[in-house]
Amino acid sequence: MNVQGTHYRTIRVMKENPAVVQIIDQRHLPHKFVIEDLSTVEEMAVAIKDMHARGAGLIGACAGYGIYLAAMNAPKDSVASFMSFIEESGKTLKATRPTAVNLAWAVDRQIEAVSAAGGNVESRIQTAFKTAGIIADEDAEFCRRIGEYGAEVIEEISKRKKGDTVNILTHCNAGWLAFVDYGTATAPIYEAYNRGIKVHVWVDETRPRNQGARLTAWELGEHGVPHSIIADNTGGHLMQHGMVDMVITGTDRTTYTGDVGNKIGTYLKALAAMDNGVPFYVALPSSTFDWKMKDGVAEIPIEQRDAAEVRTINGLYKSEIVTVQLAPDNSPGVNYAFDVTPARLVTGLITERGICDASAKGVLGLYPEKGV
Ligand code: MRU
Repeated sequence: MNVQGTHYRTIRVMKENPAVVQIIDQRHLPHKFVIEDLSTVEEMAVAIKDMHARGAGLIGACAGYGIYLAAMNAPKDSVASFMSFIEESGKTLKATRPTAVNLAWAVDRQIEAVSAAGGNVESRIQTAFKTAGIIADEDAEFCRRIGEYGAEVIEEISKRKKGDTVNILTHCNAGWLAFVDYGTATAPIYEAYNRGIKVHVWVDETRPRNQGARLTAWELGEHGVPHSIIADNTGGHLMQHGMVDMVITGTDRTTYTGDVGNKIGTYLKALAAMDNGVPFYVALPSSTFDWKMKDGVAEIPIEQRDAAEVRTINGLYKSEIVTVQLAPDNSPGVNYAFDVTPARLVTGLITERGICDASAKGVLGLYPEKGV
């Protein structure tokens, strides 16, 4: 996507020095556009854990490049010590965040490729470089296709409304910042907008870290898509008054039975959508399916983050990003970062292979090779 007219991906290898991986440091957005240079797997692990880079697809791409950085810095005296460093680095990366399945998926894919490559250390480093690139390219391409399939749904609504604006509600940031490019929930919106369909996006602010107000709003603005930021609890009211035509969210882990793990608050939006007959779609690349889990509520690990994120808020004050306290000194906070929306509340899953029902039958119909 473009930032002030220049095309960016959220992660890339530095042109002048291939030992450095560059990410957009999202902690500074929307106020500052900062590129961060990472040279070690430890730096990549911190970037994931502290959310310099975040979002399911991007976390996967970061994990892929994290293993590449590990390979660059691994001991080179023997293949055995090289491989043991890679394995350890995989564990470090996997321990950073629990919910997005893309993280473990990308680490395992990298380690498998580097092990299968055989040969000396140098050729294994080349494999790690190549595989990280494939993971990133695939993510971007899958998101592009999600955009095309999802735009069809928006187009249908637009036709039904005789060309009137289609109002779409989204939660958190499942935009291009959360992936390598395009995004998932936002990809159909960008595609519809590019096709000349009139769209307007209700952007949930998404407390406590405000990924909606800070990131989704910024992205949509950069692309020129009309949008309004709303407080997290506004969606139900808008739906009751016919002001939402559809909801599209992303997901960090979806079971093959269609239960959707996503940013905290998604479940409440799905309940309100069901009560008001508003279609609720979830957009995801196949790397976000968990092919082993059946019951999302029972099985999807829910990250609990620092209570400080709930008790405080970040914002711009005199050109500096500052943190201010919202809560009484002694009131504790609790910070569940994700929740699970049961499949029965989901109208459809928009994937790179098309749209399916949120059910084992629907998902495995699109991915028969995953037959479980
Ligand atoms: O905690 P985050 O910001 O990494 O949360 C992940 C998300 O971006 C959202 O849950 C998103 O809707 C799905 S992943 C693109």
